[in-house]
Amino acid sequence: MKSNGNVFIGVDINEIDTPALLLDLDILEANIAKMADFFKGVKAELRPHVKTHKTPIISHKQIEAGAIGMTCAKLSEAEVMVYSGIRDILIANQIVGRQKIARLVNLAKHADMMVAVDNPQNVDDLSAAAMTKGVILRILIEVDTGLNRCGVETGEAVLNLAQQISQADGLSFAGLMGYEGHCVMIQNRAERERETLKSVQILVDMKHLLEENGFPVEIMSGGGTGTYDITGSHTEMTEIQAGSYATMDTQYRSIEGIGDTFDCALSILTTVISCPQPDRIVTDAGMKVMTQEFEPPQPKNIIGLELVSLSEEHGKFKADASVNLKVGDKFGILPTHGCTTINLHDKFYCVRNGKLECVWEISARGKSQ
Ligand SMILES: Cc1ncc(COP(=O)(O)O)c(C=O)c1O
Repeated sequence: MKSNGNVFIGVDINEIDTPALLLDLDILEANIAKMADFFKGVKAELRPHVKTHKTPIISHKQIEAGAIGMTCAKLSEAEVMVYSGIRDILIANQIVGRQKIARLVNLAKHADMMVAVDNPQNVDDLSAAAMTKGVILRILIEVDTGLNRCGVETGEAVLNLAQQISQADGLSFAGLMGYEGHCVMIQNRAERERETLKSVQILVDMKHLLEENGFPVEIMSGGGTGTYDITGSHTEMTEIQAGSYATMDTQYRSIEGIGDTFDCALSILTTVISCPQPDRIVTDAGMKVMTQEFEPPQPKNIIGLELVSLSEEHGKFKADASVNLKVGDKFGILPTHGCTTINLHDKFYCVRNGKLECVWEISARGKSQ
C-alpha cells in the first residue's frame, strides 16, 4: 500500500480518517458517461461547469467523454483549469476591473478564452487589454432570460452590444448566453420544461434579431443539470453548461427526472464521537464540512437516524431505538448541495467497491477571485 499524506491507498473506507469527503468513482464515471451519451444524440454540445467539482482530473474525464471544453464561474477557477492543460474555456460571468482583465488576457496566451459581457464599458476595457496583450477574446453577450441576475435586457441593448463588440479590436463576437437558473430546480418536470422553453425562446429571439441585423451568432450557451435535456434538445442551442450532474447531491436528485438518471457520488464520512443520551448521536462533521442551504443533509442508508442540527464541528442526530451506533463507528452523510460542500474540502477521497483508490486535490476549491 502506498501512503498519500496521512492515508493509505487501498484501505477500506472505514479506515479513512474523518471527516472526509468521499467520491464514489463508479458513480462519478457513470454520471459522466450518461451525460456524454445524451449529447451524442443532440446538436448541442456539453461544456461542463467547473464550479461544482473544481477538480482538473474530473474536467479531463469529462472532455475525454466528449465535452468540448469547460465553463468556469471565476477567473481563478479558469487559471487552475488552463494550467492543468485545458485549452477551451468559457467564463460564464463578467470579468471586471483592471487586475482581473489583465489576468484574463494573460491567460488567453495559453488557452482559447471566451467570456460573458453585459456592459459597454466592460467591452471597451476588455478590448483595450486584449489589444495591448495581442490576444483575441471571444465574447458572448449575456441576456437576462428570466433569472434576473446578470444579463442585458432583450432588444436594442443586445444589438448595441453586438455592434460594439464586432467593431472592437481584440474581441470576436461569438454569440449569446442565457442561463435559466430560475428553472433548473423546478420540481415538476412538465412545469420545468414549460418555463425552460420560455426562457430559451427569449435567447432564440435575440439570435434572430442579431442575424436579421447582420451579426452571425455562432454560439448559444445556457443550461444546467436540471434542464440539460430540455435546453440541450433545442435545435438553436449549441452549448450546455451543466455542472452538478457529475457528482450530484440530494437536492438535485429530488427533482423529477434527474434523480433517476444521475446518482449521488458524494458523501461525508463521519465518526460518532459521543452518544450522551440513548436517542442522541453526535459526530465530528459539522458546518465546516457540509452546507445546508437546502434541506439538512441526511445519513446514507441508515433508517431511523435523522440530522437535527449542525454546529461548526459537530453533527447532532436523533436516533431511533433501532439504530445501533456506538462511539467510534463511522457512517456516510449525503450532501444536499454539492457545489458549496465540495468547496469546503481540500481533497476528494476517491473510493470504489469499499476501498480507497486515490486522493484528488480539489485544486480550484476556494478560488473565488
Ligand atoms: C452560469 C451558470 N451556468 C450553469 C450553471 C449550472 O449548474 P448546475 O449544473 O449545477 O445546475 C450555473 C449554476 O449555478 C450557473 O451559474
